Amino acid sequence: QNLYGQSRANSQGIDLSNEYRLQALQAELNQAGAKQYRAESLTAAEIAQQAVHPVKNPANLSEQIGEVAYAAASSVPAIIDAALDAQGAWQQKSAAERAAILRKTADLMEAQQATLLYLAIKEAGKTLTNAVGEIREAVDFCRYYAQQIEEFVPNHAAARGVIVAISPWNFPLAIFVGQIVAALAAGNAVVAKPAEQTSLMAHAAVQLMLEAGVPVGAVQLILGEGDIGAALTADERIAGVLFTGSTEVAQLINRTLSKRADMPLLLAETGGQNAMIVDSTALPEQVVQDVLLSAFDSAGQRCSALRVLCVQDDIADRVIEMLKGGLKELNIGRPHQLDVDVGPVIDAEAQQRLLGYIERKRSVATKVTQLDIPADINDGGTYVAPTILELKDLGDLTQEVFGPVLHVVRFKAGELDQLITHINAQDYALTHGIHSRIDGQIEYIASRIEAGNVYVNRNIVGAVVGVQPFGGHHQSGTGPKAGGPFYLQRMTTLNPWRLPQ
Ligand code: SER
Repeated sequence: QNLYGQSRANSQGIDLSNEYRLQALQAELNQAGAKQYRAESLTAAEIAQQAVHPVKNPANLSEQIGEVAYAAASSVPAIIDAALDAQGAWQQKSAAERAAILRKTADLMEAQQATLLYLAIKEAGKTLTNAVGEIREAVDFCRYYAQQIEEFVPNHAAARGVIVAISPWNFPLAIFVGQIVAALAAGNAVVAKPAEQTSLMAHAAVQLMLEAGVPVGAVQLILGEGDIGAALTADERIAGVLFTGSTEVAQLINRTLSKRADMPLLLAETGGQNAMIVDSTALPEQVVQDVLLSAFDSAGQRCSALRVLCVQDDIADRVIEMLKGGLKELNIGRPHQLDVDVGPVIDAEAQQRLLGYIERKRSVATKVTQLDIPADINDGGTYVAPTILELKDLGDLTQEVFGPVLHVVRFKAGELDQLITHINAQDYALTHGIHSRIDGQIEYIASRIEAGNVYVNRNIVGAVVGVQPFGGHHQSGTGPKAGGPFYLQRMTTLNPWRLPQ
């Protein structure tokens, strides 16, 4: 049973310590890589194509793994028409029927995981461990929302209508699928617009949903750039938007929706300025392990990733020295190799932005420590060296740095309140961590620091569906948390007179 009294099992993923399983997996991945991939929008409408774009492996830009046809934004009205047509029949299905289709989707994702793993690695630059995590989370979302709609959302809940789902490249399967299946579970039709960087993965996932029995029209995929998202959110017939991405784009969508007389749904999950407070009673070995994972796993490209380590000065020298030693042990490389800890960032634009940030910070940092990138991978891949920036104080850290960059500051025992105030003043409230062996201290910090999720004496990434519902508030998002008990309720309207299905 999990926190909410539900008896359910999360996906087990793949046992990567089993050598035979690994060998078989390698063969499956080779097979998945033996072809070129092609993705186009999957819709029930006639749409206009705009251009075809190559998809390159971010770890090695000379390797093309497929191509994607982008749709023209002028296609949006026809797609919304088709979604409105399909919505009624989808809503008429019983909750049990919809749940069965979601469970089938999960089963298909597990059965065809080699393709999804391959795309997570080659299109999104994920390590194998992260790629396995992606599939587990997507599978968990399907099964969790299937159970939620059957058991916990009141029978008189009705769908809202056509929901637009706009998802990021950093969890191209998990977040993409999570948004769609939540809206579908509640009887809404969905038009999904994934980040253009991970179109192949989105295409593969929607194909599995269609194969599982979601009717064409109830889920539609439109591939392309930001102009499509803008056209979708501006269409006054949509009932709401599920968005995960930057705070700026969430604010833009909010402004677009606010021009309407009615009040469409907006659920946004955005960025964070995530901190970990480490007091003098913490265990340095544990802290270092958890910090390295929290800051540099996924090349720091998680909204939950650790951005600011705050360590009490009594143990700061020791922790920072060990941390630098640990940084040097990380293996940065091409993520199809099993022993790689850190892969590339998503694309050249992200790489340039991050390198520019690190250069600008060199003048204010008291010390900069970076992992060396081996020359053979640095050529032709979008790599950014994991970097530790030691700072005198927190200063103005309002900008979220979405990559493998960790800021470190020291604080004195008497400065704890000031530190918490400063962290809260960033106005984000997503994920924070505490390392301490004093219960009272943990409670004191946890009850004052603004966050959606607070992790104690562990790393701060990798929220598990149904166990650690994930999301924040203030500039980090609207809530309710994804993978938690209140999410589906926001996808519905409640009409007490509607007959139970
Ligand atoms: N859900 C992810 C995590 O917990 C962040 O997006 O790491």
